[in-house]
Amino acid sequence: MKIEKVGIVGLGTVGTGTLKILINEREKIHQKTGVWIDVKKACDLNIEREFDFDVDRSIFTNNYNELIEDDEISIIVELIGGYTIAKDIIIKALKAGKNVVTANKALIAKYSKELFAIANSNGTKIYYEASVGGGIPIITPLQESLAGNNILSIKGIINGTANYILTEMTEKNIEFEKVLKKAQELGYAEADPTFDIEGIDTAHKITILASLAYGGYVDFEKVGVKGITSITGEDIKFANDLGYNIKLLATAKKYEDEEIEVRVQPTLISQKEILSNVNDVYNAIEVIGDYVGKTMFYGKGAGMEPTGSAVVADVIKLATEDLANNIPKGNYYYNINKELSLRALEKSISKYYIRLNVKDEIGTLAFVTNKFKDNNISIESMIQTCKSFDDNKFVSLIFITHDVLEADLKKSLDEIYISENVNVEKSILLKIDE
Ligand SMILES: NC(=O)c1ccc[n+]([C@@H]2O[C@H](COP(=O)([O-])OP(=O)(O)OC[C@H]3O[C@@H](n4cnc5c(N)ncnc54)[C@H](OP(=O)(O)O)[C@@H]3O)[C@@H](O)[C@H]2O)c1
Repeated sequence: MKIEKVGIVGLGTVGTGTLKILINEREKIHQKTGVWIDVKKACDLNIEREFDFDVDRSIFTNNYNELIEDDEISIIVELIGGYTIAKDIIIKALKAGKNVVTANKALIAKYSKELFAIANSNGTKIYYEASVGGGIPIITPLQESLAGNNILSIKGIINGTANYILTEMTEKNIEFEKVLKKAQELGYAEADPTFDIEGIDTAHKITILASLAYGGYVDFEKVGVKGITSITGEDIKFANDLGYNIKLLATAKKYEDEEIEVRVQPTLISQKEILSNVNDVYNAIEVIGDYVGKTMFYGKGAGMEPTGSAVVADVIKLATEDLANNIPKGNYYYNINKELSLRALEKSISKYYIRLNVKDEIGTLAFVTNKFKDNNISIESMIQTCKSFDDNKFVSLIFITHDVLEADLKKSLDEIYISENVNVEKSILLKIDE
């Protein structure tokens, strides 16, 4: 009879969900796996907190060192978040010979090289299924189920907060700031929502997925990131009229020359696509492999129980691995010895949506279209708003391009933005994904 002793650090949203599942499902997990998984200690700054399930309160401590120094505990579950104490705890645990489970995408994306090197040199493992897509299994499918494929592309809506905001803006015709406030009141957005709305959290996640898919590591600092703060109700309306929805999309794609493009940006997606119809706080990840074709992973990308479910899956995987005589493999697939070469975003060829906020004056349209012509930008369609949306002097010019080189488009916009008839702050460039 195998008993695996686990220590959990951080009993906030995910920690509570994890503790609840491990306690309430202990018997069933044993029936299915043959292992008893016992939470021996659980650490949080506030150990007086109440739970809606029965728990032996003698397991609680506010000193995480007690978990790391406990020889019986073989798995440390880090659910504090952030880059500082969480990192120290993981490193100490690995050095103490313990395996680690974490949901901390920020830490994995930024410090994969350092953390996996420590794990490897100590013969320990870090599992992180919950770090991308919350409750959706995506790390294990990429590492195992799809391992025989060359991954052609990954596209993901992997931030519930941003997706909720864009869905509300679309369905209820409410502007960004108001929806953000509502999201904060409902607990869907943090008091400081920067990571979610500026695309940083999404970038952490696509960094992890691209690293696993392409057999190396992506330097997070080199990922192209753009958030959703400049999207207006006007953009959403025009996109909808043209048959698209706007989503914060993370993409990773491999080109024939082996270069990898990894980026996060608000994107117009055809309403015919499944990803275009992933709404509210839901997440979805489309993975295309050369043998398997298109696969889609969909579900709750955050929350106490969904994310706890993914954390528990990693705990069970670690607890059962030696029973199945598995070779330790948690860190193997995150190849920290090879930095992946990222493709310059300017090489991308795509259709684009451009909204220019311009002075309603004779000659402005001609000026803009001439700059497009000079830079090989071919326009598929154009709309001019009849009325300005702010002070009656500026109007919006909306352009949909044919497939164009991003470098050419950026050059044309640099030339257009110099004009004092163009309000750069209120203009926007979005990619179109069809
Ligand atoms: N929330 C989600 O749905 C979700 C989804 C996927 C991944 N994640 C990731 O999961 C991790 C945890 O997120 P969360 O939402 O559960 O965060 P959270 O609700 O803020 O929980 C973190 C907990 O850790 C405690 N803590 C902080 N410093 C500590 C210390 N030194 N010792 C012991 N406990 C300490 C906090 O206590 P205080 O409250 O007293 O500070 C809090 O209870 C993060 O890395 C996050 O990115 C979260």
